Amino acid sequence: MTVQRVVCGTQADVARRAAAQIAELIAPNPRAVLGLATGSTPEGTYAELVRLHRDEGLRFAQVTTFNLDEYWRLPAQHEQSYRRFMEERLFSAIDIPQDQTHVLDGMAADAAAECAAFEAKITECGGVDLWLLGIGSNGHIAFNEPGSAGDSRTRLVDLTPETIAANSDGRFFDDPADVPRQALTAGIGTIRDARRVLLLATGAGKAPAVTRALDGPIDADCPASWLQDHRDCAFYLDTEAASTAR
Ligand code: F6R
Repeated sequence: MTVQRVVCGTQADVARRAAAQIAELIAPNPRAVLGLATGSTPEGTYAELVRLHRDEGLRFAQVTTFNLDEYWRLPAQHEQSYRRFMEERLFSAIDIPQDQTHVLDGMAADAAAECAAFEAKITECGGVDLWLLGIGSNGHIAFNEPGSAGDSRTRLVDLTPETIAANSDGRFFDDPADVPRQALTAGIGTIRDARRVLLLATGAGKAPAVTRALDGPIDADCPASWLQDHRDCAFYLDTEAASTAR
């Protein structure tokens, strides 16, 4: 069970190849269940999926999706909510019915109940066929920050100062004070239950985390290292993100 390393060249190549993997899954299996991520990394992949839908007839009408995470106490309509991100980058531009898209509700009255319902819904849908991930420069996957257990489930977590800073560098929030301090996140165990995991990383800033995840020990210091013993996991990397891995 070694993680497959696919070095794709440029960021655009990563996006094209990741979208092709998703298209290859859902074309013959229209009822596929996808796990999705937000952030800068998958944006190109979503743009390519929209293109495949528009120009090549790739259909999502029966696909079900689950997103990794959502900021706690950010309403879905907020311009930085992950629900809004997904609507703008993907859902509104493809033929997926809204009730087949699942993003945790950051305004839920009861965080634990919201997380339990999310896990139950994944089970009811037969599990996730492919979960698309990014990676934080501290090795986080979803909002599973260093210290998270390999069998963790969906829960309310505190964000680290590093993640708050990364998400307020002007790409998303402009001011660290505006970034929510907590989020609901799928756990590492939730992600590892997916039949296939596809982690994307681009840019030199991700190289140390990628190297640590692939070549370092499997432990809570680097949450992405828990993917090393997944039965079907691939890292799709551009040349820069792959530059220091073995
Ligand atoms: C997003 C998520 C995060 C990001 C990670 C990398 O849903 O769960 O783990 O994948 O922070 O973010 P970017 O792609 O913006 O560098």
